[in-house]
Amino acid sequence: MLMAVYPGSFDPITNGHLDLIVRGAMLFDRLVVAILRNESKAPLFTVEERMAMLREVVRECPNVEVDSFHGLLVDFAARKGATVILRGIRAISDYEYELQMALMNRRLRPEIETVFLMAGEAYSFISSRLVKEVFALGGNISGLVPPSVEAQLKKRVLRGQ
Ligand code: PNS
Repeated sequence: MLMAVYPGSFDPITNGHLDLIVRGAMLFDRLVVAILRNESKAPLFTVEERMAMLREVVRECPNVEVDSFHGLLVDFAARKGATVILRGIRAISDYEYELQMALMNRRLRPEIETVFLMAGEAYSFISSRLVKEVFALGGNISGLVPPSVEAQLKKRVLRGQ
């Protein structure tokens, strides 16, 4: 059984992430979407909120599981029994950061391979950071995030955070 981990911050999940999850779920027998618990970042949504949003959007994908982790990604992948780390690349600007992480992860655990998928062209400009910025400034983000995530953003921003 081929199991992959798709790690990230997912603050919040975008349609670009979702596209990668759906395509990853077709390539691997099991896909674990894993949210990093990172105390040094100040996220908009808590890990629990992000997990709930992810679970909602993948509820019709039977081989996709949502989890969270802290510490090294490769150790989490090994604990899960995954042999692949899945990452998306949008533009050449993503490449350097992804290359560094992939090589470091390979050094830490050579038995775990990083597999990259090119982001769908419709999503190649979307990032969680830009979605939050545009939304907070009153811009239209429909089509960039799942409707349930847009609703959560509305609640959060209207609450004044
Ligand atoms: O969505 P992001 O923020 O680009 O995801 C980055 C992530 C979570 C994949 C990366 O920060 C990570 O794997 N962190 C876990 C700690 C770790 O293993 N660090 C060494 C990676 S080379």
